[in-house]
Amino acid sequence: IKVEPYRPQTFTDFSLQANVDAYHAALAKVRAELLGKHYPLIIDGERLDTEGKLQSVNPCDTSEVVGSTAKATTEDAQRALDGAWNAWAEWKTWSMDARARILLKAAAILKRKRLEACALMSIEVGKNYAEADVEVAEAIDFLEYYAREAMKYSGFGASETTWFDGEENGLLSIPLGVGVSISPWNFPCAIFAGMLAAPIVAGNCVIAKPAEDSGMIAGFVVDILQEAGLPAGVLQFLPGVGEEVGEYLVQHARTRFITFTGSRGVGLHINEVAAKVQPGQKWLKRVILELGGKDALIVDETADLPAAVTAAVQSAFGFNGQKCSAMSRLVVVDSVYDEVVNQFVARAEALSVGTGEANANVTAVVNQESFEKIGKYIEIGKGEGKLLTGGETPGECGGKKGYYVQPTIFGDVPGDARIAQEEIFGPVVSVLRARDFQHALELANSTEYGLTGGVCSRDRARLEQARAEFEVGNLYFNRKITGAIVGVQPFGGYNMSGTDSKAGGPDYLGNFLQYKAVTERF
Ligand code: NAD
Ligand code: ALA
Repeated sequence: IKVEPYRPQTFTDFSLQANVDAYHAALAKVRAELLGKHYPLIIDGERLDTEGKLQSVNPCDTSEVVGSTAKATTEDAQRALDGAWNAWAEWKTWSMDARARILLKAAAILKRKRLEACALMSIEVGKNYAEADVEVAEAIDFLEYYAREAMKYSGFGASETTWFDGEENGLLSIPLGVGVSISPWNFPCAIFAGMLAAPIVAGNCVIAKPAEDSGMIAGFVVDILQEAGLPAGVLQFLPGVGEEVGEYLVQHARTRFITFTGSRGVGLHINEVAAKVQPGQKWLKRVILELGGKDALIVDETADLPAAVTAAVQSAFGFNGQKCSAMSRLVVVDSVYDEVVNQFVARAEALSVGTGEANANVTAVVNQESFEKIGKYIEIGKGEGKLLTGGETPGECGGKKGYYVQPTIFGDVPGDARIAQEEIFGPVVSVLRARDFQHALELANSTEYGLTGGVCSRDRARLEQARAEFEVGNLYFNRKITGAIVGVQPFGGYNMSGTDSKAGGPDYLGNFLQYKAVTERF
């Protein structure tokens, strides 16, 4: 196929009134056309409804029901699995180019519906314009990038092997079969799309189980892939409860791979369940896990302090800290601690709190469970550190009831405090005081996670030390630690943050392929 080289989408400039107006027009269209919409299951190309339903509620205004999805049963999951294996018999024979075309077409459709997808996420999960726009750009990037990566595998035996006289040698890449993609609500468009597009373009069939809170945007993405021409059964859409259909599919003997993005606890459980060989199972299940983080930004005495504070604010409070990449620990060298912390607190206090559709800096957190969990951590924090700002969970804003939590900062938090070690996943930051840069790096490395991290410093030797010693999958210097761009910063962590499978990177498709070396002696 002739395609221009991959380049990431540019972001929409919402400082231009015309773009804000276009967003509001899309919001009105979404409210008119999608509000109250119900997304059924899609199995073998057929839309099927279920007795149970999963409701999507606007977290910023809990009186607004956004819509619903079906709620699959284990019988539905079994049907989806059987149907996907049937579809695989043909899908695996398609060329990489032919499969890639479907992703390219889906990307084209999503580009046309970009602001609608943004608006839907504003009301389904509370994303403000910029956060929603960056996410839809990422979803488009995943489709474009994985399509091009797949094309590189075109032709049997395409991988490089060393010449050996008298023989023809080749390394075939073969899709794995049928797997399940289990995704979170915090990037419900991009991660959902990326986690199914990669295995599918590599020739696998996928059962996609979105998170319970964000089934509508998932249904929106699936409709686009259907419109782009995915054959029936290649992508089975199975909204349902994780502990029910997710668990059923993870343990099933006929599940070949599991790609999961979500919390550490659920990920470790999946790892364990998938490791147990079931009667009739003839493979070791491939398990790809992308888990949580307790991400730190270090600021030393040589840093451009205002720029470092901007990086901290963006990293901590973008989408209310509900990113695996979010800065939940700010580690500051003692000699500049007061200056940095004072500025950081002042900037946090200036953030607007409100709805996603009104483009507030900080919106409501996703659901009641998160709201309560974050509230509990804030109470724990009051006993562990010095509350510098926030600390309240008002549960309403501007007359709207919603899961509102104040941006909250604790100072002088000991490195081993629970709020410095456990993922809170909300707008709550622990600030840690370090004696010097060496101590800062030790504090940053003192959790079991290893996802993102950053250093703000002008000292070259320290940056080089961090490059070698900071234990994270994504490391950033002198900027925010969120917002990895597909193809530019392959994303994923190690240690307890996951299997470091690097979404949006050149090796990602390999997670969904197995290899056969074939030799013919002439
Ligand atoms: P979660 O673990 O609660 O749920 C994730 C998915 O797992 C959902 O679809 C859920 O229904 C499903 N699930 C729950 N129990 C299951 C079970 N027993 N078997 C199978 N599936 C099950 O996570 P969440 O709250 O949706 O997302 C937030 C978490 O995701 C945070 O910890 C965040 O750090 C992490 N995350 C990581 C990355 C990354 O790339 N590393 C990216 C985004 C989010
Ligand atoms: N990929 C997302 C980020 O980098 C999670 O912020």
